[in-house]
Amino acid sequence: MLKLADRMGRAKPSAIMVVADKAKKLKAEGRDIISFSIGVPNFLPGEHVYQAGADALKHDSGSYGSNRGPEALLDAFIKHLDAGGLTGYTRANIATGIGAKQVLFNVMYALLEEGDEILIPTPYWTSYVDIADILGAKSTLIYCSPEQEYKLTPEQLRAAIKPTTKAILFNNPSNPTGMVYSEAEIQALADVLVEHQIWILSDDIYNRMIFDGQSYAHLLKARPELRDRLILIDSLSKTYGMPGWRLGFVAASPMLAQAIVTLNSNHITNVPEVVNAAGTAALAGPQDIPTQKCKEFQAKRDEVMATMRSIPGLNCPLPGGAFYVFPDISFAFGKRHGDVAIGNDVDFCSALLDSKGVAIVPGSAFGEPRAIRISYSCKPAELTEGLRRFAEFCSELS
Ligand SMILES: Cc1ncc(COP(=O)(O)O)c(C=O)c1O
Repeated sequence: MLKLADRMGRAKPSAIMVVADKAKKLKAEGRDIISFSIGVPNFLPGEHVYQAGADALKHDSGSYGSNRGPEALLDAFIKHLDAGGLTGYTRANIATGIGAKQVLFNVMYALLEEGDEILIPTPYWTSYVDIADILGAKSTLIYCSPEQEYKLTPEQLRAAIKPTTKAILFNNPSNPTGMVYSEAEIQALADVLVEHQIWILSDDIYNRMIFDGQSYAHLLKARPELRDRLILIDSLSKTYGMPGWRLGFVAASPMLAQAIVTLNSNHITNVPEVVNAAGTAALAGPQDIPTQKCKEFQAKRDEVMATMRSIPGLNCPLPGGAFYVFPDISFAFGKRHGDVAIGNDVDFCSALLDSKGVAIVPGSAFGEPRAIRISYSCKPAELTEGLRRFAEFCSELS
């Protein structure tokens, strides 16, 4: 009998997309749906980005490009890293891919043998575990509770690293929690990591979305000697409003960057030159749109938090970046909404969608079944109305 490779038995569709697709379907059926489900930034890049793409369409779209990425793009990304205080990278350290997700897949593919162990602070972005599963690697989840603001502590990190540990995935600012680590917290984690020879995958894709004037702390700035084994992953999707363009980056040791280039040469060949040109313009051009959008997201975060704080029993740590909040809604478990019993996060989200038309992703998709993830990147009027419905739903629980 014809059959697929065994690894496909371990592959599953993204849980976020399942909720987003259900919301889309209900909307198409004429229901009044507000979606807080998917992490789309909901703004567009500047005119200079489109112009660069249009020029490249005429001049560069007819041939193959470099497996690593064009020099102008690599240089623009190196300058972008420099501007954030991450200095000393050269072109040999950089590779590109079809968004951070494909870059991450490549990096994990390049590093992890079947059975290798990777530490994943939890709550986590869904694809970390899904990709590890496909590769047959072993995810060891380190549970970080709402009471510790979902942040990994140095004690937890030290206890989790074993002789068998090959790598850790670290995401700051975090999806799904929106948490941002302070300089002192990063320093303490970096001090533990220098003691152990493991790979560090640092998913930095929300690095320009930090609120309240807080500075962006990085493991590499805290402990530059981590350089050879820290793999920095970045993307234009969230900070530049370019998720559909699909451009991601890795900055790492030349050995790892070259491994990604070799993988590219065997699957994608190159990111399309039109996208590369638009991405170069985004990184090298005016930065007013990302800066302005970050301010707007902070104002929206405040609006969401005002609603969260008004709901008795709901515990919601204050996020310092990205565009997510991750409230603990376990106060609702054991209650009812109308005829519907709310036993867990999935019941909560499904009753909310059915009764109020608000789509939210259950926290169990991110390894925390006490919580739900609200993505607040939608239009301001939708946000206000969705929050009103959310608060109404909570007030009707009995
Ligand atoms: C933490 C995190 N990493 C990576 C990605 C993938 O981003 P990209 O659009 O660049 O593939 C996402 C997208 O939601 C994300 O939230």
